[in-house]
Amino acid sequence: MEASAAVSRIGLAGLAVMGQNLALNIAEKGFPISVYNRTISKVDETVDRAQNEGQLPLTGHYNPKDFVLSLKKPRSVIILVKAGAPVDQTIEALSAHMEPGDTIIDGGNEWYENTERRIIEAKSNGLLYLGMGVSGGEEGARNGPSLMPGGSQQAYGNVQDIMEKVAAQVEDGPCVTYIGEGGSGNFVKMVHNGIEYGDMQLISEAYDVLKNVGGLSNEELAEIFDEWNRGELESFLIEITADIFKVKDEGGEGELVDKVLDKTGMKGTGKWTVQQAAELSVAVPTIAASLDGRFLSGLKEEREAASEVYSGIVGVKSSVDKKRLIDDVRQALYASKICSYAQGMNLLRAKSDEKGWNLNFGELARIWKGGCIIRAVFLDRIKIAYQRNPNLASLLVDPDFAREMVQREKAWRRVVGLAIAAGVSIPGMCASLSYFDTYRRARLPANLVQAQRDLFGAHTYERVDRPGAFHTEWTKLARKSGSRVAALK
Ligand code: 6PG
Repeated sequence: MEASAAVSRIGLAGLAVMGQNLALNIAEKGFPISVYNRTISKVDETVDRAQNEGQLPLTGHYNPKDFVLSLKKPRSVIILVKAGAPVDQTIEALSAHMEPGDTIIDGGNEWYENTERRIIEAKSNGLLYLGMGVSGGEEGARNGPSLMPGGSQQAYGNVQDIMEKVAAQVEDGPCVTYIGEGGSGNFVKMVHNGIEYGDMQLISEAYDVLKNVGGLSNEELAEIFDEWNRGELESFLIEITADIFKVKDEGGEGELVDKVLDKTGMKGTGKWTVQQAAELSVAVPTIAASLDGRFLSGLKEEREAASEVYSGIVGVKSSVDKKRLIDDVRQALYASKICSYAQGMNLLRAKSDEKGWNLNFGELARIWKGGCIIRAVFLDRIKIAYQRNPNLASLLVDPDFAREMVQREKAWRRVVGLAIAAGVSIPGMCASLSYFDTYRRARLPANLVQAQRDLFGAHTYERVDRPGAFHTEWTKLARKSGSRVAALK
């Protein structure tokens, strides 16, 4: 391809699955795009696809210089390579040919602090930088992802028209918005993934209860999830779950889902979410339970051995009304999900406060309504809740969500009670319910913990009836009153 003609509006480097599909999406929306990859067969593959998918305006380049020089100024380049060192290497290769005012956009699942470092490095060369979360997998990248760009607002201004066309479209606009400064785009994507882990865990628990307490078959499960996908739980993850139950095992009897090894892999964004929550002292027990669930799933052999040790435990199986159980599980799933989203949004708030990002939570919920993995009808309700009150302390105290929690509370407790009695572990639903029960209580047993801390460490405590920090000689006083109690006997 002729290197000197600067014809493309934008460039994309890194042509693995996500990169190829996003490049084709951009081209399809009418923006001429240049693409580049270190392994040149990927370039040819992408050019061929562009031809076959409607002669899209996409040109391939085999070296960084030709690639960069093929872009109109100010140049904007999206890079979609593995997070970490490969991003630095790609930036180095490309920026050698870029000029002040040009922009680099990293679309990977990057650790937000790497983006903050790169923003500073780019600035020292006069370059602008965006760290952009991209969600929706292969299909989303090709047909409309949810995009979470953060960093230089000027850089976003240069590509806003492209991003708004390329993103998924929902009734209230494209699923993209400028998130904020620094690494905010990556951070928001990271929390999106934490919420994604929580959703997947909760859905798998609903499946477990329906199957192992309710005795539902895969066929019935497919039907139930299809039905749920027509109501308040309507979402991408519920929809794909229904599909999963329908797939037969081509290599044997029954459905494929039963042949899949019960060990969950991960790439790490969920773990970062929980680490960040701990750093910021924000409780995210449902998301943490989903992470622990993945860790424990990995101990397949240990679990098999433990199941022998405890083979005598069978749980209390009471006869259940199937229809009622299904309806209760639906409600338990919905209520648990609200708690999980409340945790994720509160983590975002804490980080936004710490970094001064001024995140717009209503907008975040809106751009998650389409394109991304957690897309769901109920995100519109979250959007409305934050639009009504941008300073909402928690989704749990939004009047609409509070009403829904109250309506579902009994069914939720019935499901948790049944599962616990039957010995079916539901860590996500339990974590959500405990979170709810803790959050809604004006008084907790934390008074006793404070007293213990003061007794053994003189850490002091506050009182409910007067201000100040107090210390008590608990042991001495206890001995005194202890001898009095003994004397009374
Ligand atoms: C998305 C997803 C995606 C993520 C995968 C895998 O929004 O499109 O979040 O970015 O990489 O879901 O994540 P784990 O391998 O950690 O489960």
